[in-house]
Amino acid sequence: MKRSRLSEPQDSFYYQKKELTVDGVPLSKLSKKFGSPLYVYSGQAIRNSYHALQSALKGLPVQVCFAVKANSNIHILKLLNSLGAGCDLVSSGEWHRAELAKIPRHKRVLSGVAKTAQELEQLFQLPNAGVGSIHVESAMEFELIVLIANAMKSPVTVAFRYNPDVDAKTLDKISTGRKRDKFGLTREEILDLVVNYGDDEFVRIAGLSIHIGSQITTLKPYDHAFKKLNELKLEVEDHLGCELDYLDLGGGIGVRYQNEKVIELDAYASLIRKHFKKVPKLLIEPGRSLLANAGALVTEVVYSKERGNNRTLILDSGMNDLVRPALYEAYHEMIPTTLSGEKAITWDVVGGICESTDYFAKNRKIAVEGFPGEKLAILSAGAYGFSMSSTYNTRPRLAEVLVDQGKVKLIRKRETLEDLVRHEL
Ligand code: LLP
Repeated sequence: MKRSRLSEPQDSFYYQKKELTVDGVPLSKLSKKFGSPLYVYSGQAIRNSYHALQSALKGLPVQVCFAVKANSNIHILKLLNSLGAGCDLVSSGEWHRAELAKIPRHKRVLSGVAKTAQELEQLFQLPNAGVGSIHVESAMEFELIVLIANAMKSPVTVAFRYNPDVDAKTLDKISTGRKRDKFGLTREEILDLVVNYGDDEFVRIAGLSIHIGSQITTLKPYDHAFKKLNELKLEVEDHLGCELDYLDLGGGIGVRYQNEKVIELDAYASLIRKHFKKVPKLLIEPGRSLLANAGALVTEVVYSKERGNNRTLILDSGMNDLVRPALYEAYHEMIPTTLSGEKAITWDVVGGICESTDYFAKNRKIAVEGFPGEKLAILSAGAYGFSMSSTYNTRPRLAEVLVDQGKVKLIRKRETLEDLVRHEL
């Protein structure tokens, strides 16, 4: 089946007989069985988004490397692996998860601005450091890689992460490709390293990568960045005297949380075709676009209160479970798990954390009455939801459930109070 767009929340989270379901399974039932709050994912939504992307990119030599930071549950990684995805990793912890999910090592790239000598030395004991390629983010990191590879006589493949100085026109806090952002190397830094180390015996410079930001909703910044990437590619190849193996175009494709206009996948693919006609291999690193709308946070009203005109809905979930609204003022749709026929009321929706920023929404119309036990689903929480959650205020992290091909599977147990103090001596 050809799909031309990413999953949207209502594709997998829809009402059946007044009950909100995930692909037909009522969320209230899952909440009852596994407890509240609860992360719930639709395997079908992940499959649909993956296939939509693959189908748009048909004919292009592209390997999808899922950005594990968006959702690092091993079962989700296994599902993506079964679809053919590789992964983009940014820590030894993520590398370990990729290992457990059995993602082939040659399909892994290792990014990250602060890879430590200890982490690198450990990885260098494996053939090609246990990855397809290491994406280098600074000159000092590259020099350390050269040192370790030569000392250990351990050959490794690298690519330079290029900071093209392009404004992705997204939230300031999730922009990564401007000069003032901390990521990557400038053109001049990359050319210097190529001139000085291009013929190193153990470190092979095989590619260039970019990632200009996240939740990008127009193609223009990509157009601009791809053009600069191509220009640098030619310069690097000129110095090396050979062609690079691959270019990595990063992630960043935005999704619909509310009513944003988002990038058409076919237009994204056409842009790639326009810029990279003769590149032997391309990687892309989507995170959010594959997972965001495949997940919801199911939560419950604990109390509500009314002061003058202001009504506050207090949930059993908090910014420790889903930090995006508090951190970026991000919008997430909130809907009741059971339609009661009540009229929508305007609420401020808060969590139980002792922080003034612990808001999920302000002035939001939701059809709940404010009674304890009423359940809500916070949508589009599949990416940067659980993976950014914490135990702040000493609250256990939540359980995660995957509904896929008619089966309901607990893919992470709820933490216990004992788990929270386990490491304290
Ligand atoms: N590749 C690299 C090198 C990245 O740093 C990222 C995201 C991605 C790929 C995936 O980008 P995506 O396709 O998901 O946009 N916590 C923020 C998003 C931070 C993104 C960090 N890097 C949020 O919740 O909006």
